[in-house]
Amino acid sequence: MKIVRSVLMTVVIVAVVAACASTATTTAPQEAAPSGSMPFGAADCAPDCTYADMTFCYPQLGAESDWRTANSASIKETAQELGIKQLIFSDAQQKQENQISAMRACIQQGVNVIGLPPVVEDGWEAVLTEAHNAGIPVIIVDRSVSADPSLYAAHIGSDMVLEGERAAEEFNKHFPDGAAILELSGTTGSGAAVGRAEGFRDKLNANITILDSQTGNFTRAEALPVMQAFLRKYEAGTDFQGIFIHNDDMGIGAIEALKAAGINPGDLFIVSVDGTRGGFQAMVDGWFQADVECNPLLGPQVLEMALKLMNGEPVDREVLTNETVYYPDNAAELLPTRKY
Ligand code: AHR
Repeated sequence: MKIVRSVLMTVVIVAVVAACASTATTTAPQEAAPSGSMPFGAADCAPDCTYADMTFCYPQLGAESDWRTANSASIKETAQELGIKQLIFSDAQQKQENQISAMRACIQQGVNVIGLPPVVEDGWEAVLTEAHNAGIPVIIVDRSVSADPSLYAAHIGSDMVLEGERAAEEFNKHFPDGAAILELSGTTGSGAAVGRAEGFRDKLNANITILDSQTGNFTRAEALPVMQAFLRKYEAGTDFQGIFIHNDDMGIGAIEALKAAGINPGDLFIVSVDGTRGGFQAMVDGWFQADVECNPLLGPQVLEMALKLMNGEPVDREVLTNETVYYPDNAAELLPTRKY
């Protein structure tokens, strides 16, 4: 009898939680839930949902880099391997308004979970509130958002501040007597660019000056003219001795500009971020002196968490990827093993 009562109680609690979620149009955003708690309601199939029940929405921010291509592939391949019911994937072409429209279409369709890789940090409150009110959990993937954490279920991605700190440590080690350097930064207002710039400045020794910093929007095509403009203003080797570049694609664009101007990129100290095959090749060629890892292969973690949310299981609110720094000394050996 005791057992029956406790089973009944569990069923009632689950039903109440689910009901709260489905009538959430009247629900105010909840307080930020502590780590390990469940901030959103479960799906109708809870607690027995399987991947075959899952409709997952991924409004990808764009296709600006090899990192992004690998991230999209990871989500698509994992969705297929796990046999989810439907993946709704879109490409916002680096435009926040496109991501918001794609999210709204997913909310309208009543998907189970949304994974949002936000192009910029700010401006998500309205659409996150809409998802919250519809009882649809959102996992923020890759970059962060500035919105109140009570509006989304969790964040899975890299520690962008730590990546910037790691890059700064490379400059500190290489230039103990100081230097002047340039910065080619990522998309303005993105969690990746903001975090890397912050960590970099926090850890950079006072005798290393950032002479200039401009955005190349995380793309090769936009980094090339930015580097060309730098070279019209500053003399490589004399005015600046190194460059911190926020991703490998921009690094490759910058190298093209340096080579076209008759400058050997290997004469400068260049540190990039991502650890893509292109970045490894740049280390093998002698152009990059270090590459700070940023791992895009997030599909398995994201979809595993999505299923937990559907089943009403607790999830960690902040899941940071374990990353490292790569160097030229073993880049040739590791290059064939790189997955992206
Ligand atoms: O948010 C991750 C960053 O976005 C990667 O460093 C970059 O390559 C991508 O475009």
